[in-house]
Amino acid sequence: MIKEITAQKMNTKQFIEEKVQEIRAAVGDGLAINALSGGVDSSTVTMLGHRALGKRLKTVFINNGIMREGEPVQVVGYFKKLGVKVEVVDARKEFFAALKGITDPEEKREAITQTFYKKVFGKIVKKSGAKCLLQGTILTDVDETVAGIKRQHNVFEQLGIDPQKAFGYRILEPLIQLRKDGVRKLGKALGLPAELFKRIPFPGPALSARVIGEATPERIEITRKANAIVERALKNSGAFQYMAILHEDRVTGMRNNKREFGLQIEVRCWESVDARIATPTRLSFTILEAIAAEITSKVPGVVSVTYNIASKPPSTMEVV
Ligand code: XMP
Repeated sequence: MIKEITAQKMNTKQFIEEKVQEIRAAVGDGLAINALSGGVDSSTVTMLGHRALGKRLKTVFINNGIMREGEPVQVVGYFKKLGVKVEVVDARKEFFAALKGITDPEEKREAITQTFYKKVFGKIVKKSGAKCLLQGTILTDVDETVAGIKRQHNVFEQLGIDPQKAFGYRILEPLIQLRKDGVRKLGKALGLPAELFKRIPFPGPALSARVIGEATPERIEITRKANAIVERALKNSGAFQYMAILHEDRVTGMRNNKREFGLQIEVRCWESVDARIATPTRLSFTILEAIAAEITSKVPGVVSVTYNIASKPPSTMEVV
């Protein structure tokens, strides 16, 4: 059982000191590596790891081909300003090869997990001589995985998987007692700019969690474009998280007086504190209509846009 530390109860200064000690003790005089995606959790763990290890923590950004628009350049830029060097690794081919032909949600997650930890990271860790991978798993990831709701890509021990045996390196998870609100508080205390610690959550399986059915490069690109439109439109909404989802079904539409058997995008926008429960934001119709107009005019092939009005539970926030 992992003991939860709530955001309210966390003494950030003491927490940072403790975790810095733990990380130093685990890594000894060796090297550690961490993968930064630019999300709140991995950004916070990067700052914590650098506080503990300085240059002995190597930070890499894995370009898996399923990240948001402009993400690699943006994230490297943010961290450069914070004095953290980030190396970008192009692994797009590996990920798309692994996702090819897979439509089942859990199989997609498993393909991403195996590619990330075994193929891509296995190589990087081996080459660098690092012993540990530092990662930002949080308590909500563990809860949902153990409950069998969604296998979060970064949870192993609680499923009886020993990373040392499975992948050949140790995984350190200093944020595992926290939930999202606690991580934000910690990220702020560690000096992350608001653009990062207030960033809306983004899932480990990235845009593939927002494609129903096969995540091909083309379908990911459609989702990426629609997602960018939704993020721009809702950035001042104050909502916990918002996203665009590509459906598998096609629907009959019309364009220039011709029938178009087109694609369907679903927009979701959530109110939540810690992602355990969530309700849809009561967005105005003016905003929703503007989003629909922009998506149908700028994203090729999309003829239908819907807005989700169901809560979590029984929904979940991501779609697959
Ligand atoms: P769900 O969809 O489980 O998401 O309600 C809860 C929160 O966790 C974020 N998140 C993930 N979701 N797989 C997911 O399905 C993951 O690996 C993952 N990592 C993070 C999700 O974006 C939402 O904020």
